[in-house]
Amino acid sequence: MNKYTKILAVVLVAALKACTPQPQSTADARVEALLKQMTLEEKIGQLMQKNGDHPQLHDLIRAGKLGSVLNEPNPEKVYELQRLAVEESRLGIPLLIGRDVIHGFRTIFPIPLGQAASWNPALVEEGARIAALEAASQGINWSFAPMIDVTRDPRWGRIAESYGEDHLLNGIFGAATVRGFQGSDLAAPHTIAACVKHYAAYGWAEGGRDYNTVSIPENELHDIILPPFKMCIDAGAASVMTAFNEINGIPATGHIPLLRDVLRHQWGFEGVVLSDWESLTQMVTHGFTPSNKEAAYMAMQATMDMEMASTAYETYLPELISEGRISIKQIDDAVRRILRMKFDLGLFDNPYPFLGDFPPLLAPDHLAAAKQMAMESVVLLKNEGVLPLSTGIRRIAVIGPLADAPHDQMGTWVFDGKKENSVTPLQSLRELAAEQGLEIYYHRALELSRSRQITNLPAIMRDVQRADAVLLFIGEESILSGESHCLANIDLPGAQEELVQRIAAAGKPTAAIIMAGRPVTFEKVEPYLGAVLYAWHPGTMGGPALVDLIFGKASPSGKLPVTFPRHVGQIPMYYNHKNTGKPASDQTWERLDDIPAEAPQLSIGNTSHYLDYGFEPMYPFGYGLSYSSFQISNVTVETPRLKAGENLRVSFTLTNTGQMEAAEVVQLYTRQLFGSRTRPVRELRAFEKITLAPGQQQQHVFEINTRELGFHNPDMVFVTEPGTYHLWVSNCSQSGTQQSFEIIR
Ligand code: GLC
Repeated sequence: MNKYTKILAVVLVAALKACTPQPQSTADARVEALLKQMTLEEKIGQLMQKNGDHPQLHDLIRAGKLGSVLNEPNPEKVYELQRLAVEESRLGIPLLIGRDVIHGFRTIFPIPLGQAASWNPALVEEGARIAALEAASQGINWSFAPMIDVTRDPRWGRIAESYGEDHLLNGIFGAATVRGFQGSDLAAPHTIAACVKHYAAYGWAEGGRDYNTVSIPENELHDIILPPFKMCIDAGAASVMTAFNEINGIPATGHIPLLRDVLRHQWGFEGVVLSDWESLTQMVTHGFTPSNKEAAYMAMQATMDMEMASTAYETYLPELISEGRISIKQIDDAVRRILRMKFDLGLFDNPYPFLGDFPPLLAPDHLAAAKQMAMESVVLLKNEGVLPLSTGIRRIAVIGPLADAPHDQMGTWVFDGKKENSVTPLQSLRELAAEQGLEIYYHRALELSRSRQITNLPAIMRDVQRADAVLLFIGEESILSGESHCLANIDLPGAQEELVQRIAAAGKPTAAIIMAGRPVTFEKVEPYLGAVLYAWHPGTMGGPALVDLIFGKASPSGKLPVTFPRHVGQIPMYYNHKNTGKPASDQTWERLDDIPAEAPQLSIGNTSHYLDYGFEPMYPFGYGLSYSSFQISNVTVETPRLKAGENLRVSFTLTNTGQMEAAEVVQLYTRQLFGSRTRPVRELRAFEKITLAPGQQQQHVFEINTRELGFHNPDMVFVTEPGTYHLWVSNCSQSGTQQSFEIIR
């Protein structure tokens, strides 16, 4: 065997090792062997994560004093950083290279809130797989996603990044993203580690103001906030990120009960816990610890492993150890978890997986998947015969600030997407016009979604007059949602309402396509619109996806993952609310204008509603229309009486009663009528997205264990209680024929 065949053999063995999942014993043995060789300084170094532009990055890596780098997406620089770690540091421990790959790397998928609107977990998983492929090809091995912060507040900018108001949806889509990122072998070159965030209750911020105070009853914390995290950890998530906020007075990053007692001891999570950016030292700002040293102490006691960006661990852990307040064992436990993640990623056997073969960024199948996801995320909220545009429509006025907004259509948290790769609706419309001889009259009308001045209104109205139909692309620029981008007013920004009203005056069939990072309140203009497609921020392929829907190449199939309020003053408004002792109804809400003068004090009201905005949302959770029509029939509760621990089975038939192939999302909701605590009027328990041709039927059976109907009772014991339950098999959280079943002792 000559020297070349020897080198080839070594490379092949290394590559083979890297792709072979480490059996527990081998990886653990390698971790222990390495741990024994490490100095205390090197151990503490593994607990640190620095930004890619840190001035001392190379020195720290050479000295073995760094465990991870974030925000370095340049593969040549990543190679140099990794080479320094592996070839120039004493023990050659490779780096974790982290990045916010939230909804795509270069191929940008719809924002997570839009992906949730697809109600298609397989598609969400495929999107995450593609994001991981593209990110891994650039040297990234750790994504700070999925974000599964359940929230009921569209004022909060990061609702865009969540999967909405329901904990089951957040859990299902979070777990799908974990699977997509990590695949079946985390050591494979094209997979990256997931990081479930933000633990915990970040979306419960007071007033929808980012980073703000979270006060939440223990039972809601355990029944709503924590289940999605458990689903993601059960899906194998490699890491968890702590939240900026406090929970009932204790900042998440030092929250011993949630981190050490629940995450570690109850759930047995042995992965890495990472702080958010400086969230460790923010414990001082919160007023929880008097110093960064005490913050480091609390975080370590809570078993928080790696500190993002701030320097409390490297500065104070040596002191805390010499004072005997933190033990070497605690340090070793944290280092062990970090080393184990690096072994699981295969980094010790192949620190440069990105040098291997990868498909190109923006590969055709990546773009096709992004287009499919964009199509399935769009929700048809209204349609009075305007869509799909009929073949007789030859002249189309395309108006609005989001028709040709390649940057904004990508949405928030897009570090590595490039606007030049976006295909906008205007571009796709012009392409179609060239093929089909259509005439497109385009007017931006507003420079930005926030602009208060409509430009060229006379010219706009002239073109609207000569058009057969109007497509209005309105909504929010991407900067108006995302981290710390919260709004007290969620109406359409700028002069968009005026724009809609002026155009409507022409009386032409008008469809609005709304792009936004949250539900916006547009009740004032809804009457002027013949159709509304809600596109969220649809990503790189938003244009082709929307044009296919507008012209009926496919039917919209999205359903709302979040309630749309009529007015911001109604927030919080969500589907799985309690009944209260005085629920409102149409009969109990006197409209403001109907109230007589000098109305006696007790003559109106007496139920839970607003005199001015009533008690119902504009659109409810789970709502979405189709170009076709469906019938849900033969709903049969196959287990009308069952014992706790048995499976509830409910069958139904879905029929496409329309003229077009389309998909319907059939949803199963239950309600426990009476309990040791009051229970929500509806809770989503399962769903199935079914595509049918016109006239086609399909039978389906929902089967869930009664455990899934459980909750934490007043003694904080998780129970499924006997009694009468209602259920609905429906296409929205406010429809469906009510049926019942009994759980008996
Ligand atoms: C942040 C975000 C977090 C993100 C981190 C790194 O401020 O809260 O979600 O992963 O910084 O960019």
